[in-house]
Amino acid sequence: MNREDKSTILITCAKGLSEILSGEIAALGYAVDSIHETGVEITGDMYDCMKLNLHLRTAFNILYLLKHFECRNPDQLYKQTAALPWEEMILPEEYVCVIGRIETPTIENTMFANLKIKDAIVDRILQKTGARPNSGKERGNAVVQAYWKGEKCWIYLNTSGQKVSDRNYRKIPCKAPLRESLAAAIILTTGYDGSQPLICPMCGSGTLPIEAALIASRRVPGLMRSNYAFMHTLLYDEDAWQQMRAEALKQSKKRGKAGFIPAPIIATDIDPECVRSAQRNAMTAGVDHLIDFSVCDFAETPIEPDAEGIIVMNPEYGMRLGEIEELELLYARIGDFFKQKCAGYTGYIFTGNPQLGKKIGLRTSRKIPFFNASIECRLLKYEMYRGTRKKKNAAIENE
Ligand SMILES: C[S@@+](CC[C@H](N)C(=O)[O-])C[C@H]1O[C@@H](n2cnc3c(N)ncnc32)[C@H](O)[C@@H]1O
Repeated sequence: MNREDKSTILITCAKGLSEILSGEIAALGYAVDSIHETGVEITGDMYDCMKLNLHLRTAFNILYLLKHFECRNPDQLYKQTAALPWEEMILPEEYVCVIGRIETPTIENTMFANLKIKDAIVDRILQKTGARPNSGKERGNAVVQAYWKGEKCWIYLNTSGQKVSDRNYRKIPCKAPLRESLAAAIILTTGYDGSQPLICPMCGSGTLPIEAALIASRRVPGLMRSNYAFMHTLLYDEDAWQQMRAEALKQSKKRGKAGFIPAPIIATDIDPECVRSAQRNAMTAGVDHLIDFSVCDFAETPIEPDAEGIIVMNPEYGMRLGEIEELELLYARIGDFFKQKCAGYTGYIFTGNPQLGKKIGLRTSRKIPFFNASIECRLLKYEMYRGTRKKKNAAIENE
């Protein structure tokens, strides 16, 4: 087994993000083989896995396919798994975690299938080396992932371990924070590249402005993290990894430190606790110098008049009765704010409640579907034109 061996690489993501993820992968120079609801496939080797872990903003895990086989029962699962050269991938002094997803009538218990795979791996390593690795649920070491569907089974090396979307900068989450990969996907969907002002009222723990600042300064997100599952395999090339990191750092500095300052990024929230946590999180991410934070009602957010830019908001979309009435008023106020103060800007509202979205009372130019965990959401886009187009487009939705 070699680092240069080419295989299928499955890059997983949250439901609804695979088109955006595919765009990111293509921008890194890869040909995309296929796009699924929760993932994208390419062909590549271990070096590609390392690069994808380092660069991708909207992915969950980077999975390197080891084997794909017919599997009708747990014995076949054991035999096929044990036939892989695990001693060439995992040292006996390592720790292995096996995770699996089972969609087969053959067995019901995912734990049992995982156990079979784990036994096959450690038995093989014991037989070949005289010692066996420890195993358990901890994902900070070598990770093997299986997907058994019907009579087919896929065994992957999970090269990420922890999701790459867990960027580690959000030490203090505030109310209902967005997952970093979802916030990055929202920002990428707006077309933001740092050249135009970005306003984030209701910033909460700051995920949207922080992801925007990382994008604007070309900061490679994987630089914030020091441990990946591939580092715990014999397929890890540390020199190559250090070189990839150095190149990524240079790319970031070119825009980040050597004089590049993006157009203003403004983040506000009515809750001083949230603003404090957002500032701390931005500091951890190394982008606090690129964001102007302040405490205020969203309608008081400083918006430069007669300018152009992007406004992104993620108001609460409460599920409890009673909350809804209050939120209806809040959404109606957002509509007034857009109409009265934001001419020339493009506004985006991320919400999981389409009925509340209607209370904004302005005509959307796009409604982009997303998922926040299992909740179907929409990113509502509003163009606030100045002059005659403004009058035409900011018309009341049901007129
Ligand atoms: C769903 S949370 C935003 C979460 C954020 N996207 C994140 O990733 O952390 C909504 C935020 O809106 C803020 N908020 C509620 N009413 C507000 C108002 N009238 N003006 C400004 N912020 C408000 C809350 O304090 C909360 O932080």
